[in-house]
Amino acid sequence: MLHSAMSSGVCPVSRLKQTLYDKYEPVLKQALTASVEYLQGMEERPVRPDGAAVAGVEALRGPLPELPESPEVVLEELDRLGSPATVAKNSGRYFGFVNGGCLPAAMGAAWMVSAWDQNASFRVQSPTAAVLEETALEWTRELLGLPAGTGGALVTGATMANFSALAAARHHLYERLGWDVEASGLMGAPELRVVTGEEAHPAVTKALGLLGLGRTRVLRAPVDEQGRIRADALPPLDERTILCLQAGNVNTGAFDPAAEILPVARKAGAWVHVDGAFGLWAAASPRYRHLTEGFEQADSWATDGHKWPNSGYDCGIALVREAQALRAAMSIDAPYLVMDGRREPADYTPEFSRRARGVELWAALRQLGRQGMAELVERTSAHARRFAEALRAAGFEILNDVVINQVLVSFGSAEKTLETVARIQEDGTCWCGSTVWQGRTAMRISVSSWVTTAEDVECSVKAMIQAARKGGPRWGA
Ligand SMILES: Cc1ncc(COP(=O)(O)O)c(C=O)c1O
Repeated sequence: MLHSAMSSGVCPVSRLKQTLYDKYEPVLKQALTASVEYLQGMEERPVRPDGAAVAGVEALRGPLPELPESPEVVLEELDRLGSPATVAKNSGRYFGFVNGGCLPAAMGAAWMVSAWDQNASFRVQSPTAAVLEETALEWTRELLGLPAGTGGALVTGATMANFSALAAARHHLYERLGWDVEASGLMGAPELRVVTGEEAHPAVTKALGLLGLGRTRVLRAPVDEQGRIRADALPPLDERTILCLQAGNVNTGAFDPAAEILPVARKAGAWVHVDGAFGLWAAASPRYRHLTEGFEQADSWATDGHKWPNSGYDCGIALVREAQALRAAMSIDAPYLVMDGRREPADYTPEFSRRARGVELWAALRQLGRQGMAELVERTSAHARRFAEALRAAGFEILNDVVINQVLVSFGSAEKTLETVARIQEDGTCWCGSTVWQGRTAMRISVSSWVTTAEDVECSVKAMIQAARKGGPRWGA
């Protein structure tokens, strides 16, 4: 679309300029064809890339080329050598880690974001990015059932979301102690106490380390067999304490008993932070909302767009009840940064320049709507239950209560389980990783993609059983 300044002849489009713009068209059409063929070919390839493909991508290394290359050749190389060595994450049979897929609206939006090439740091650099970020944050707050007025930031993932929210916590506690931690740092500062559960995700521990609060100084509260903090065994809390709770354990999917802990923690004056990288989205479903009860009383929350909402990589979300604390920890100022008093994204994030990732999150939530998000949580959790039921029926042990979309399976001894996981990965029908859960080696199944169908689940179950029984045609037995 031609804009008025151009069409009115203020800045007439020269032939040279038009030629530069024309360069986008063939390469974007090529990218469209390559992307569609890639996605449509997902069923015909193993989920893990094969050995030849992984060896092939090495050809993209080599010395920095001396001469320029045409965009079409660059794209052709990327598709020919890069595409085959990717993991088929959008296939619907990728159950590794907690990786969501990418909804069509989010993928299309990501393309638009690239065409726009907006810097999301300041409102003046992109009104569109600012409005969509604010809207996506507000929609997220609403879906997660968090208090009105909560503010936030969009970052790369839950690790940085935990970091950002915990920076707000650190600011708030030190402000109460009369210490300006942003100005004076931690040297000579009064001590804070940090409490997490024994099964807190390492992303939280890493964030605490980055904030100078220490990875190992943390008090680790005992947990039960699902990884939930035992409310009866919490260390004492006070107004110098940051308590980190978890909504959705990466292995079991379990939720800390927030409704029991929050009133106690609030009374003690502690700051309560919630790592809800994927689990908090259970609040979007009337069927699963009860699992998140009590977490809304916390002070800050970290979650991901790229997990359950399937907004594509990357998108982490930090939310803080008193957004002013996040702003105080993150804000940035210089004479050349002209602001008009409205919310400036860069005042809430660790980054300055930043991709407009709010656009993809907005697009994903716009496609899903309230009902779609609830249905996605319910459908993927139903798939997880089916995995557990089918594998249990085949004689294998399910180690966790399957409360949402995570399943832990033991195929016997640690060796047998690891061997089975390796066979499953090698087979390529689906992809799952391994873990050690409270001393037991297990396979993790995380159903987080909007693409996964009941058929994907059934054929994956079949491949898993075959791999565990070391037989079957796929093994050339
Ligand atoms: C509970 C929890 N917290 C934090 C993370 C880290 O998230 P990210 O990889 O988006 O930084 C994960 C990842 O699976 C997680 O499950």
